[in-house]
Formats: sequence, C-alpha cells, structure tokens
Amino acid sequence: MNLGLFIRPCGHNIASWRHPNAAADAGVNFQHFVEMAQTAERGLFDMLFSADTLSSWTTAESAIDKVHYVAWMEPYTLLSALSAYTKNIGLVCTASTSFEQPYTVARRFATLDLITGGRSGWNVVTSGNETEALNFGQEDHLPKVQRYRRAREFVEVVRALWDSWDEDAFPRNKATGVFSDRSKMHVLNHHGEFYHVRGPLNVARSPQGQPVIVQAGASDDGRQLAAETAEVVFTAHHVIDTAREFYADVKGRMDKAGRDRSHLKILPGLSVTVAPTKEEADKKFKTLQELLHPELGVALLSRRIGFDLTGYPLDEPLPDLPENSVVSSRSEMIKGWAEGGRPTLRQLYTKFAAARGHFSLVGTPAQVVDAMEEWFTTGACDGFNVLPQYYPDGLTDFVDLVVPELQRRGLFRTAYEGPTLRDVLGLPKPESRYA
Ligand SMILES: Cc1cc2nc3c(=O)[nH]c(=O)nc-3n(C[C@H](O)[C@H](O)[C@H](O)COP(=O)(O)O)c2cc1C
Repeated sequence: MNLGLFIRPCGHNIASWRHPNAAADAGVNFQHFVEMAQTAERGLFDMLFSADTLSSWTTAESAIDKVHYVAWMEPYTLLSALSAYTKNIGLVCTASTSFEQPYTVARRFATLDLITGGRSGWNVVTSGNETEALNFGQEDHLPKVQRYRRAREFVEVVRALWDSWDEDAFPRNKATGVFSDRSKMHVLNHHGEFYHVRGPLNVARSPQGQPVIVQAGASDDGRQLAAETAEVVFTAHHVIDTAREFYADVKGRMDKAGRDRSHLKILPGLSVTVAPTKEEADKKFKTLQELLHPELGVALLSRRIGFDLTGYPLDEPLPDLPENSVVSSRSEMIKGWAEGGRPTLRQLYTKFAAARGHFSLVGTPAQVVDAMEEWFTTGACDGFNVLPQYYPDGLTDFVDLVVPELQRRGLFRTAYEGPTLRDVLGLPKPESRYA
C-alpha cells in the first residue's frame, strides 16, 4: 500500500500542542520538521504532505487564540529546505487555483522537482475557506462550480507548461555556442476562459516528467476533476462503506475518462493511536481527548457545519440545523452523526476534533493493521494518508509498531522502489504532449 504523512506542526489532534511530550513551538522550529521528515523516511513513507490555506482564520474567531497552527511556515519554502535533509521521500504541498497563477505554480513545482531529483507533488485545491478571499482583494469566494471550472483550466495550463521543454532540449554545446535546441522548446499560447499564458516555462523539464498531481475534493465536481487529472487523491472517510463508495465512484469515472485505474492512488486519512496493548492505546487516546478545550471543540465543529453552535448546552443534543448550513462533503458527514443516535454537543465535537472526520483507529499493532488490511484489500483505498495525533510519538509509534506489522504481512515495501515519487507510488512517467 501507499502511505502519505500529513504533517502539521504539533499534530492533527487540535489539542496536540498541550500534550506533555509535544513541542509547543514546533511551528517555528525547523529542526522539528527535519526530524519528522527523517522519521517518515525511516518508515519508508511514500510522501510527506503539507496542507495550506492562504489565511490564518481556519477556525472560528472565538477560538483562534487556542489553535496551534494559526501561524507556522509556508509549505513550499519548508519542503524546499527539507529536501536537503531527505533522500527518497516525496514532498507534496498545496497551491490554490483560486488565488495563484498557473505560471508561478508550474515554476515552483518544476523547481522543487529539480532540487529533489524528482520527488515533488502539487496538491491542487480550489480553496474552501471563505476568509482567504479577504487576503486577495476580494469580498467573497467564487461560487464552487466556477472555482472548479477555473481549477480545470489551471491544471491544464500547468501541465502544458511542464511540457515546455523536451528532456533533451539543452545540448549546452560550448564549441558551437548553442545552449538550447529551439525545436525542443514549445510555446504554449494558451487563451482560455480564465487564463492567457504564452509560455514557455523558464524551468527545464522535471526529472519525473511532471510533478505528481494530488487532489482532495470530494464533491461531484471534485471527484470528476480528480478522475480526469489526479494521480493521488486524499479523502476523509470515517467508515469503510463511504470509503468504498467513493473509491468505486472515482475509479469508475476514470474508466469513463479512458484512464487506467492504477494511475490514481486513493488515500483516505487515517488517525492511529497505537501501543503494545489495547489498554495503553486507549489511555493515550483519552489523555489527549481530555486536553481539548470546549470552546475550541465547539468552534471547530461550527466552522465545519457552517452554523455557530457557541452558547448551546454542551451536554445536550444539537439543535436542528438549518438546511443551507451544509457546505461540503464533510459537513454532511457531521450532520449524519448528529442525526444518528443524537449525541450531545460535547460528544460530537470530541469525536470530530480527534481526527476531523478521518478514519480513526486505537489499538495494538495487529488490531490497527487488521483494519488497514481490510480497507486495502476490499476496495476502499490504495493506501492511507496518516495523520499522527501528536508529534513526535504519534509518528514514531506508527513507524516502530505499525510499519513492521504491515511489512510482516507483505502489505508494505521494505525498501524504496526508486529515486522519484512516481517510482515510489508506482505511477508512470508522463510523455510530453509534443512527443
Ligand atoms: C486530506 C485533505 C487535505 C486537504 N488539504 C487542503 C489544503 O491544503 N488546502 C485547502 O484549501 N483545502 C484542502 N482540503 C480540502 C479539499 O481540497 C476540498 O477543497 C474540500 O474537500 C472541499 O471540496 P469538495 O466540496 O469538492 O469536497 C483538503 C482535504 C483533505 C481531505
């Protein structure tokens, strides 16, 4: 199976920074990220992934003073620096199709690919956080359908720019004075609905043909774009049934788009709390849950469902939510939890805060791998995007306890397959459109 590590300064649990073993200053401590990357590489992870938003306000204003990732590091710069401390692991980060330009995005990832010898990947996002627009001179986000239309053209332009130069376009002939071969340079001249880009890109062809395209949308438009263009998809599923439905749907759309199913790896998020005994694992999980600040739990949930739950009683079921409060695939999931079994507000935010709606496992290495194996072998995924609850233990436990059990069962590599991220993921090297 393929494994990604979803990095976040102190961990994915919103309370992670308060854990006694966590480095609360992790977000400004580059050495911390070096250790994280090197541990992931020791565990033979396919890639390291840094998400990104173009605003600090990823949660409700009422609780912003309790969130540890409101201010940390810009991922592209961070990954470029980490590349010098790693040899094999893929380095993937987010760039937004709503607020950036295709030329600069194509350039940055092509450069990261050169720096790393072919280990870069771009997580294409349309940006779902309404506060981001306010940092770019806009009052509001574009409507979702339009955001995806723009994303489609954006990806098309970036990929075309990555084909600007053939692999052998630079003879660099000192005797003749000819540096590049004009016949191997391709000027794009793109004129579309949203972008006008002449090209060519001023960065040579990527060592892996093109950087890997990653996506994480789950709506109808998101799935369709992924089926047509993505090579890795991150997704959030709390239970195996919805993961299977998603997997079958996206792979089915690939068939219709004429793509080989094995050319896209679907990786649901996975939160693991593992220990040699189940009792120890439960205790670890509970310790962290108890550090969750109620105001933060409520704020996080409120933002996800698009309805402010501040002031509602914590130990009673949720009020009926207005119809239009559902804003995304994950808010639908939360709404489903709220309706089934009528949990209290406290129970609901505790459940959501632990893994933000991703698949969550607490147990021994054998119990954890049993569940991972079931998902992997029964059409729910091609691997996982691992979200450690807190660093460093959440990652070191996974590498030291879960990875050996996966390897023992023949489910995971025992050495890296090759130097590029495509080699490691088992993806083909794309041919240039001009070949
Ligand atoms: C694992 C994972 C990582 C994501 N990373 C980002 C990110 O870095 N930046 C961002 O704006 N959105 C991120 N998203 C959100 C998705 O890109 C997408 O915008 C969101 O799921 C809403 O789109 P949808 O309605 O098509 O699902 C991520 C989602 C998942 C599941």
